[in-house]
Amino acid sequence: MADQAEKLRQLVQKSKVGEAAIITKPANKARVITVTSGKGGVGKTNFTVNLAISLAKLGQKVLIIDADLGTANVDVVLGRTSKYNLLNILEDGLAINEAVSEGPYGIKYLSGGSGIHHLANLTDSQLFSIISQISLFDDWADTILIDTGAGLNRNVLNFVIAADEVIIITTPEPTAITDAYAMMKAYINNNGTSPLKLVVNRVIEVGEGEMVTDKLVKAAFRFLGLSVIGIGFIYEDRNLIKAVKNQKPLLLAFPDTLASKCINNIAQNILFGNYAVPPRGIKGFFSRVFDFWRQ
Ligand SMILES: Nc1ncnc2c1ncn2[C@@H]1O[C@H](COP(=O)(O)OP(=O)(O)OP(=O)(O)O)[C@@H](O)[C@H]1O
Ligand SMILES: [Mg+2]
Repeated sequence: MADQAEKLRQLVQKSKVGEAAIITKPANKARVITVTSGKGGVGKTNFTVNLAISLAKLGQKVLIIDADLGTANVDVVLGRTSKYNLLNILEDGLAINEAVSEGPYGIKYLSGGSGIHHLANLTDSQLFSIISQISLFDDWADTILIDTGAGLNRNVLNFVIAADEVIIITTPEPTAITDAYAMMKAYINNNGTSPLKLVVNRVIEVGEGEMVTDKLVKAAFRFLGLSVIGIGFIYEDRNLIKAVKNQKPLLLAFPDTLASKCINNIAQNILFGNYAVPPRGIKGFFSRVFDFWRQ
């Protein structure tokens, strides 16, 4: 752990982006972070989009991949439309840059598309073609955020287990906590090894975020032998609901509101916390996802 912290310190450089320091990534390997939950509707997509904006404001190049195969809606929260998805690369011969859309602050996003699980039936050369296109983002992106759908199904789990890092979102409601714990258990049962990161969303009372984090950290350690690291909480904020209705990301619509400040704190923790793991890149990530699908 001390070694890792020292490596990170060495990677931190003073940048010209505001007062912030940024972490430079190792060559050709983006940091892949999957955002997941267990229970649906707890705030994954809004968190992913606004975290991307916060990281981009800190100088990071961020790609969001919408891997919610049922109800992909990253573009709706971003307030942009995306015409294409990953499958268009194969079906219509699109180059990856044409399938990717532009968001604010230079963020790029790519929809997995509802047919992505058909990738399991593709030939080796077709898969190779997709992986080699996607791996271009290992050069471009510092961080790649994967937004998943809800539930503990195989599609979601594959994206969770293949990631360098996983952020689990819960709310303080017992149903969401139970489902977050179930996701942790599924992670362990599927040979997941990295410590998981936890964000508590829709916190109403002071101390509630810490209390929920403490409960889950202890239970995961005691019953699953799993390390869970709390990386922050987000207050319940009516401005987030307003922002969603106006199809404008919270950090753009209300940059100084409480939830925006909380998300900025989490972005700082993700960039400068001493618990990052060495990135394995998007190429490795998709190779693992395809392997899981084909097992
Ligand atoms: N911090 C918050 N304060 C107030 N409302 C919130 C907050 N976070 C999320 N919400 C509400 O929850 C709704 C669902 O959020 P979001 O779509 O991000 O969840 P999700 O986990 O991605 O859902 P799904 O599982 O369907 O993909 C938002 O539209 C908003 O109304
Ligand atoms: Mg969602």
